[in-house]
Amino acid sequence: MNNAQPLELLKQARAQFSQREIAEQVGKNPKTIRRWEKGETPCPVMLGSALRVMLREPEAPRYEPGTNRIRFVDLFAGIGGIRMGFEAQGGDCVFTSEWNNFSKKTYVLNFGERHPFVGDIMPFPAEDIPDHDVLLAGFPCQPFSIAGVSKKNSLGRPHGFECTTQGTLFFDVARIIATKRPKAFLLENVKNLLSHDKGNTFEVILHTLRNELKYDVHYRVIDGQHFTPQHRERIIIVGFREKTDFSWNDLRLPEKAPRLESILHKTDGTEPFLPWDQDRFFDHDKKIIQPKYTLTPRLWSYLQAYAEKHRAAGNGFGFGLVYPDSVTRTLSARYYKDGSEILVWQGDKKRPRRLTPRECARLMGFPDSFRIPVSDTQAYRQFGNSVVMPVMKEVARIMAPHVHTMIEEGRTGVAQFSLFA
Ligand SMILES: C[S@@+](CC[C@H](N)C(=O)[O-])C[C@H]1O[C@@H](n2cnc3c(N)ncnc32)[C@H](O)[C@@H]1O
Repeated sequence: MNNAQPLELLKQARAQFSQREIAEQVGKNPKTIRRWEKGETPCPVMLGSALRVMLREPEAPRYEPGTNRIRFVDLFAGIGGIRMGFEAQGGDCVFTSEWNNFSKKTYVLNFGERHPFVGDIMPFPAEDIPDHDVLLAGFPCQPFSIAGVSKKNSLGRPHGFECTTQGTLFFDVARIIATKRPKAFLLENVKNLLSHDKGNTFEVILHTLRNELKYDVHYRVIDGQHFTPQHRERIIIVGFREKTDFSWNDLRLPEKAPRLESILHKTDGTEPFLPWDQDRFFDHDKKIIQPKYTLTPRLWSYLQAYAEKHRAAGNGFGFGLVYPDSVTRTLSARYYKDGSEILVWQGDKKRPRRLTPRECARLMGFPDSFRIPVSDTQAYRQFGNSVVMPVMKEVARIMAPHVHTMIEEGRTGVAQFSLFA
């Protein structure tokens, strides 16, 4: 809970908002805000709740006996895409782990820091993690993704489980499940996890979850394009401590995929003005996307030449031009480099442009209220690493009744045991 006094909250709010914006929110004159800030007049106690709304930090949830809100932990949290899916089902985060400071900045601004937030999960003792009902982990996909594997191969390094750092992170997840025995878990990764090392990697994962940890495990590849105009296939693995009648048939995946135009900035005067973005991505006066997102002549020539070279050699590489009725390729964490996988066509007379970070947020299904406090480079990396949030929301929706049943039945779980004994 944010127990800070009104003046402290005012200082926090001023890091993000102008005196005028705060004045509008609390129904006062900007001069009054300045007097409060300078300590010329004391901040009224009532100011606190209005500022908490601005800081998007609701009162911390209370756990009354008999309530069945789902408590979850958010591991490899990134910017909280999976978290948002579970919050939509009435879940409360009780612990987060994310070691990247830029991602942490985005995460904390959007969700607050009302619970323990730790960096590296590897050395963190599992028994110090608060009790929880559901464990969420979008563990890093680099060792399993095609790009990750080929990069590591080219560097002569091992990949997957052989890789001593990233690949073993699954076992950190397993270690925590073994110790904390949550009622359920949701793990997310690239689709390529299924075929990595001829299927051996996935077999080890399933064996660990089913045979060692004794969970009822279900998995499925889901394409984000049911919800947003992006082809993004990810494997979702869910597990329950008890046998359930969980079924993927309960998923509601909209048939008609939305098209790119639904997430692009609107140049017809209807683009909303977001106080937290101001004109960073879109010039509201001129009604244009900021020119810096249009490719430089040099980069555009390079990309065309590169694509032509590969086309001549019979390879499928190249840039991905997209139009208002397109569904894009997968947004990658490397989008900031040249943005070649998704280039927005701007007419024959203009060079194409990249998506803005706000458009990337929309492409991942994040609401416009989501704040982007980091540089474009970091923002592209963060969204490219994240999840199509509505997919998570839908999976959380079909998991929730089973978790609620287990909470209500008050099952306490079986004795803890060591995975590696
Ligand atoms: C694939 S991303 C997950 C993104 C997340 N699902 C989201 O919605 O943004 C994996 C994240 O794990 C973090 N990470 C990698 N190794 C870690 C470690 N040892 N401890 C904590 N975080 C780690 C990375 O910084 C990255 O943000």
